[in-house]
Amino acid sequence: MQTQTRRQFVKRTSTGLAAFTTLNVLPALAQDPPSERIRHAVIGTGGQGTGHCRGFSALPHCEVAAVCDIDPERREKAAASVPNADRVKRHEDYRRLLEDASIDTVSIATCDHWHTPVALAAILAGKHVYVEKPCSHNVRESRLLVQAARAHNKCVQHGTQRRSHGESKAAVQALREGAIGKVLVAKAINHQLRGPIGRAPVSDPPAGVNYDLWLGPAPVRPFTRNRWHYNWHWFWDYGCGDLGNDGIHQLDVARWGLGVEYPHALTASGGQLFYDDDHETPDTQTVVYEYERCHLIYEMRLFTPYGLEGHDNGNVFYGTDGRMDIGRGGVVITARDGKTRRLEGGRESNLEDFLAAVRAQDPKRLSAPIEAGAISADLCHLGNIATRLGGQRLVYDPVAGRITHCGGREGEANALLTRTYRAGYELGYRG
Ligand SMILES: NC(=O)c1ccc[n+]([C@@H]2O[C@H](COP(=O)([O-])OP(=O)(O)OC[C@H]3O[C@@H](n4cnc5c(N)ncnc54)[C@H](O)[C@@H]3O)[C@@H](O)[C@H]2O)c1
Repeated sequence: MQTQTRRQFVKRTSTGLAAFTTLNVLPALAQDPPSERIRHAVIGTGGQGTGHCRGFSALPHCEVAAVCDIDPERREKAAASVPNADRVKRHEDYRRLLEDASIDTVSIATCDHWHTPVALAAILAGKHVYVEKPCSHNVRESRLLVQAARAHNKCVQHGTQRRSHGESKAAVQALREGAIGKVLVAKAINHQLRGPIGRAPVSDPPAGVNYDLWLGPAPVRPFTRNRWHYNWHWFWDYGCGDLGNDGIHQLDVARWGLGVEYPHALTASGGQLFYDDDHETPDTQTVVYEYERCHLIYEMRLFTPYGLEGHDNGNVFYGTDGRMDIGRGGVVITARDGKTRRLEGGRESNLEDFLAAVRAQDPKRLSAPIEAGAISADLCHLGNIATRLGGQRLVYDPVAGRITHCGGREGEANALLTRTYRAGYELGYRG
């Protein structure tokens, strides 16, 4: 396909278009497919973003054409890692990158507090988006992201990559077919030893980095090396704790396997039994999500190298006729008589799956669509709200987008469904 066609496609689908023009754009999308060659950009080039640079560069007919990070050292390292290093554009500010109409798709691997703001801006700029998990920093952001993706007919894939794996698909299919009978409980297990981070004094940010842009919508606080690369996960201003970090993978598989969306209630407990340092987020957390016919239980202990039921990060589904384990050992079904059988399947790429949907211009082809990602992210946010408010039973109404019960602390709970955005960094989309 010719470059001309791709450019036309990008131009036609570039919004900045007001919402009311969106409907007029849709027929053009159907007729005018993008080029075979996709020009991709990676925003946030830390550990995971560098993986995106490698991953997207390795896919046929795709090139990483631009990278963006507020840290020049990381930006350069990521740029140097792609085959077309001499040509790749480098940006400090994602807003400049999004102005480039030659970019078709972007992936977002920044800190969590930037995921939705950047994703919304990218959708409005006409890009298809791969957004790392959790897609949002709060429940309101999840709703806006789903609304924007739908309104602008964009493929928005969530970084819960297990949904692309053949073995997970085989597992879910077997559960649906009754391989272990009626499934009444699923566990999402996150057991690992995550070392303490100590107490970091206030210091100057590293030379050359744009710390103000790193903070973005978050409140201004003095720099410390803990409120910075990777360790930001453990501060509520930027991260979602390990429930939204590693736990979301298991939670998402459990929810998918059970075939459920929002629970009618959840109870949570947790806190810091282990850490005595700068951590704000819990090292120990249990959340029980109650559905009409089943329970989903999230169990997290970050102070132990010993697994739970044999898993560090894994799932167990308990049925009336057996159990299913999904973890590092693959997918294993154990029947009531103790006999085991293994389900096979490849580990297909979530990135490749994303590009296939983009080429087809069909969000329905995504393995991990934003609709599913948003619910799993919300389960993390709601579990964290109940934990932060002292272990409350919480009832959330997903239609109204309100918490209707939280042990008398509904006002505080509802306030945590969103956050205050620093002036100049308000969300550019209100639904
Ligand atoms: N799907 C997975 O299995 C998986 C695995 C690891 C990480 N992740 C996700 O990827 C994300 C990044 O994780 P990480 O471990 O690489 O963190 P990290 O802190 O190492 O990297 C984040 C990068 O984003 C940059 N950044 C922050 N704000 C920015 C902005 N406004 N513009 C441009 N760059 C900005 C930072 O400078 C940093 O280089 C997290 O959300 C994490 O949950 C997903």
